[in-house]
Amino acid sequence: MSTAAVTAVTARRAPAIALDRVARTYPGGVRALDDVSLTVGHGTFLAVMGPSGSGKSTLMHCAAGLDSPTSGSVRIDGQEISGLDETRRTELRRERVGFVFQAYNLIPSLSVEDNITLPLRLAGRRPDRAWLRTLTERVGLADRLAHRPAELSGGQQQRAAVVRALAARPAVVFADEPTGALDLRSAHQVLDLLRGLVDDLGQTVVMVTHDPAAAARAHRALVMADGRVVDALERPTAPELAERLVALGER
Ligand SMILES: Nc1ncnc2c1ncn2[C@@H]1O[C@H](COP(=O)(O)OP(=O)(O)O)[C@@H](O)[C@H]1O
Ligand SMILES: [Mg+2]
Repeated sequence: MSTAAVTAVTARRAPAIALDRVARTYPGGVRALDDVSLTVGHGTFLAVMGPSGSGKSTLMHCAAGLDSPTSGSVRIDGQEISGLDETRRTELRRERVGFVFQAYNLIPSLSVEDNITLPLRLAGRRPDRAWLRTLTERVGLADRLAHRPAELSGGQQQRAAVVRALAARPAVVFADEPTGALDLRSAHQVLDLLRGLVDDLGQTVVMVTHDPAAAARAHRALVMADGRVVDALERPTAPELAERLVALGER
């Protein structure tokens, strides 16, 4: 086998995300992550739960290459990112990672279509029109592309943000409280959308959430406390997740 072929096989087999003993200590001494190891396989939906201050956002930022761990190793799609300088990390993030935030973060003066293609254009890449059409039809926004974000409901804006996150065909989509600002019905639609992307397109999704019902849509849920993963539940249910969180609050 040629070197290129060996590399291709290795890359395909590497998990979407692999953290090995990742620690993050903030200036002042707060140890927000305390030797966390985990792997996220391609095509899986992982939820991350835990009390406020338990390290969920820090975990997500380190796993996505937004922040550098103090020690330990982070691999995205087989590529080690912990030693990369800021420029290379930014490049890798643009190519391999998509983000969805609670607050949608769409630019008000741009059309939905321009919002969706903005990260690609910033990366100097040409949008794949057929892929974008597939996505916008899937999320029910094909006839809203010329609208401004303010002309859309919250649920529609978040679905546009999901399309934006997927436009570059990232290895992983990270979502931090994606349903936190939505009414129940819109939240359901966004969760259905994320789950469908995993089931139908093999997308990998990591979602931070406070809501046990949202986390129950994932394949696996991690529960964090004090910078550590204290529980990992396969096929989690909302009642068992709620029970674990209550127990943590009562320590
Ligand atoms: N930039 C920062 N500087 C100092 N401490 C921080 C910073 N960001 C987070 N922390 C601290 O790290 C811990 C974990 O925070 P975070 O990852 O935001 O938790 P969560 O997302 O679960 O609420 C908390 O004690 C928080 O106060
Ligand atoms: Mg947080």
